[in-house]
Amino acid sequence: MYLFLLSILSLLLKVSGTKETIFGHNNFTEYQVGNMNLILSVPHGGSMEPKDIPDREAACWDAKTSSCIFSHDCPPGSIQNYKKCKVSTNQDRYTIEVAQALAEEINNITNGFFPHIIINHLQRFKMDANREKEEASFGIPQAEQAWEDYMGFLTTAKSQMSGGLILDIHGQAHPEKWIELGYTLSKTSLNSGVFSVSCSSIRHLASQLVNVPSETLISGNRSLGKYIEEQNNSYVCVPSPSNPSPNNGSYYSGGYITKTFGSRSSGTIDAIQLELPQWVRAAEERSRFCKALARAVMKFWQTNYCSQYKYEFLPC
Ligand SMILES: *[C@@H]1O[C@H](CO)[C@@H](O)[C@H](O)[C@H]1NC(C)=O
Ligand SMILES: *[C@@H]1O[C@H](CO)[C@@H](O)[C@H](O)[C@H]1NC(C)=O
Ligand SMILES: *[C@@H]1O[C@H](CO)[C@@H](O)[C@H](O)[C@H]1NC(C)=O
Ligand SMILES: *[C@@H]1O[C@H](CO)[C@@H](O)[C@H](O)[C@H]1NC(C)=O
Ligand SMILES: *[C@@H]1O[C@H](CO)[C@@H](O)[C@H](O)[C@H]1NC(C)=O
Ligand SMILES: [Zn+2]
Repeated sequence: MYLFLLSILSLLLKVSGTKETIFGHNNFTEYQVGNMNLILSVPHGGSMEPKDIPDREAACWDAKTSSCIFSHDCPPGSIQNYKKCKVSTNQDRYTIEVAQALAEEINNITNGFFPHIIINHLQRFKMDANREKEEASFGIPQAEQAWEDYMGFLTTAKSQMSGGLILDIHGQAHPEKWIELGYTLSKTSLNSGVFSVSCSSIRHLASQLVNVPSETLISGNRSLGKYIEEQNNSYVCVPSPSNPSPNNGSYYSGGYITKTFGSRSSGTIDAIQLELPQWVRAAEERSRFCKALARAVMKFWQTNYCSQYKYEFLPC
């Protein structure tokens, strides 16, 4: 019923051109309903710190099973362990602003198409929307609810399209200061040069482009990294033509959302994790960067997705 209402809603929106926003419980999460086959996900940009959700810091180490139990009250036989079970809590600053600016620019370029935007407004130390539910919420019902709302929004957005792309937007502070594009291909396999895009989070796209080699889509002439660098070569990407693999550099290959909601194991919707360095998110660069990123994303889209005549992708 809910899905049905949403699909009616999106039809109305296409006609009227206005944008609908749906909030999750307590406004911890937000879904701006779009009208194209692109989803922007922002799991780590939030700044809400409700007092009744305890801070996530470290989970309980259970020596018997050699595993972490994600709870604020360690069950008997386990004990909180800051070495073995520490969780990530750093906010990815300005990623909500980046997603919003990127969407505006895409809207401008495409003359009225808006990506879907899904935002977690909770601070990462309250709930981490890019982890499995247990690690994300430590069993706290309000945090679990927000996690379910976030994943529900992703599922709803996906259900409105026959195929398309998710960009999961993050920030990092690695010394290389490059833009890391995650396809769930490990640093080791990228470095070895022996990898297959059919094991990546853009598996479905690759299955449609049978004559395009893996390298071309991941680091070559048809890769997102190529289109971003082409805008301005100070926006160095990895993997890309300038840096086909990370070598000894720092690199994130993609987390829970990219692995789960992309096409790696099934489905027709691809995902790429964008790990942005601080300088492109900062106020001085953000607007210039988002203009360039919008142009790059739409070129990547036109070249790779719009060649798929079988699908009614928007906009093509
Ligand atoms: C959520 O946000 C909306 C719009 O800003 C506001 O009207 C509503 O009262 C908020 N709800 C809660 C539970 O904070
Ligand atoms: C949208 O594009 C037009 C020209 O194509 C430009 O004048 C305008 O400033 C742009 N708007 C934004 C928000 O970038
Ligand atoms: C990529 O494109 C450039 C320019 O069109 C061309 O010179 C080059 O050979 C292409 N490389 C590959 C691997 O296709
Ligand atoms: C590329 O971007 C950098 C950083 O914004 C800027 O200083 C430089 O002028 C740009 N280069 C071109 C050719 O636009
Ligand atoms: C990584 O390798 C490059 C050249 O291969 C070298 O210049 C750089 O210092 C190395 N960085 C680290 C952190 O080892
Ligand atoms: Zn992140």
